[in-house]
Amino acid sequence: IVDKELGPLVPLSFLVLLCLTNRGNKLWTGSSPFLLFANRRDVRLVDAGGTKLESTVVVSGLEDAAAVDFQYSQGIVFWTDVSEEAIKQTYINQTGNVVQNVIISGLVSPDGLACDWIGKKLYWTDSETNRIEVANLNGTSRKVLFWQDLDQPRAIALDPAHGYMYWTDWGETPRIERAGMDSSTRKIIVDSDIYWPNGLTIDLDEQKLYWADAKLSFIHRANLDGSFRQKVVEGSLTHPFALTLSGDTLYWTDWQTRSIHACNKRTGEKRREILSALYSPMDIQVLSPDRQPYFHTPCEENNGGCSHLCLLSPRDPFYSCACPTGVQLEDDGRTCKSGAEEVLLLARRTDLRRISLDMPDFTDIILQIDNIRHAIAIDYDPVEGYIYWTDDDVRAIRRAYLDGSGAQTLVTSEINHPDGIAVDWVARNLYWTDTGTDRIEVTRLNGTSRKILISENLDEPRAIVLNPVMG
Ligand SMILES: *[C@@H]1O[C@H](CO)[C@@H](O)[C@H](O)[C@H]1NC(C)=O
Ligand SMILES: *[C@@H]1O[C@H](CO)[C@@H](O)[C@H](O)[C@H]1NC(C)=O
Ligand SMILES: *[C@@H]1O[C@H](CO)[C@@H](O)[C@H](O)[C@H]1NC(C)=O
Repeated sequence: IVDKELGPLVPLSFLVLLCLTNRGNKLWTGSSPFLLFANRRDVRLVDAGGTKLESTVVVSGLEDAAAVDFQYSQGIVFWTDVSEEAIKQTYINQTGNVVQNVIISGLVSPDGLACDWIGKKLYWTDSETNRIEVANLNGTSRKVLFWQDLDQPRAIALDPAHGYMYWTDWGETPRIERAGMDSSTRKIIVDSDIYWPNGLTIDLDEQKLYWADAKLSFIHRANLDGSFRQKVVEGSLTHPFALTLSGDTLYWTDWQTRSIHACNKRTGEKRREILSALYSPMDIQVLSPDRQPYFHTPCEENNGGCSHLCLLSPRDPFYSCACPTGVQLEDDGRTCKSGAEEVLLLARRTDLRRISLDMPDFTDIILQIDNIRHAIAIDYDPVEGYIYWTDDDVRAIRRAYLDGSGAQTLVTSEINHPDGIAVDWVARNLYWTDTGTDRIEVTRLNGTSRKILISENLDEPRAIVLNPVMG
């Protein structure tokens, strides 16, 4: 059915239907699982027990797909693209590669991704911003969970039944950590005999954690608290990158062999190669409902009473409400404030950012505004909620709301180098300096009734502030 050069010779949707509906039925190949893996240029699916060991393309034409995960019940595949600095998704039942963006800003190197199939959340690591974040599956209500003591966070794995998340960090002090999925109870669980901990996976049935170390060339396992560590495969691996498991079998990708390998999860024996000569195998998951069993959680009814995020937790009552980055939770522990109360606004040449001063993480959020080329001065009108800024390259004064919406250009003529701007929030006027025309001018806040205030005896007027109360 699948040609090595041409790809699937029957529509992918048909294969996928078989894959999704005929598991365990002899129609496909019986009980062997499907492996979903990222291959930089594409995301693929392979039948681990198939006789013709070829893979099917789920989505192609990608830049640099690294981490991959799925939501089985909704048929969604998620992946990170470290080149495009994005998290994307597609429905596995769709033909024709309909790719949707989930997160497209504030990512630099999203190396690890995990889907909480019960709470319907995405968790990810970023080894450049050094953050671990969470968001709804559609990317809304995004929140930074960890921003300190992270160096090179990579793989991330979830155990929603117990409310725990696990991640590897291959930085200066390599380690495996565990924390509640609501960021509570963070703890280092492995920090000896560890160098480049790469892949990480959880055996949900036997409650074990498996990881691969690319430098020490082994796969080890331990209890979920890091105790009872055991060797599975020692010394004979080249550069394992990611691993996953199903039943008694462990599967992993290797950068050097460019293959997917398998072995028995307890003994490390019965080593075999599933697929070889791949372009660049990265993350891997077993695509099976067995890897995402259903159970009831307190978040299921009415979102746990939370206005925004309901995150699973290891601590009684086994969930907690959380707010988007920068926003505080009200005293009721359920409702988020309508936004940040104190915000620092930053013009950064090619983008504008806001940093909430209400929360300790001070995460900068890029405003989604097009065509910012050389932003210089910035000010804010608390009455209407507009941000005003000057752009030295576009040669304009513009405004937009704090969330980036409603962008408008106010002044474009006779603007050379508008370097300073100030909002009179009382009389509703806007003042600016221009080091090109050497003037100080004013308009109404909507850009009408422009007037030159001072044009004599100015050489390079730059910063400007107002004191409306004193006039
Ligand atoms: C794919 O599955 C999703 C979720 O189950 C559904 O909403 C959508 O209509 C399906 N699309 C097609 C083409 O079958
Ligand atoms: C995103 O998902 C959340 C949670 O499922 C939902 O409440 C919200 O309406 C969705 N937003 C959009 C824009 O789809
Ligand atoms: C601009 O603002 C002034 C003062 O608020 C108002 O009188 C005028 O109608 C506005 N003009 C436009 C075009 O919105």
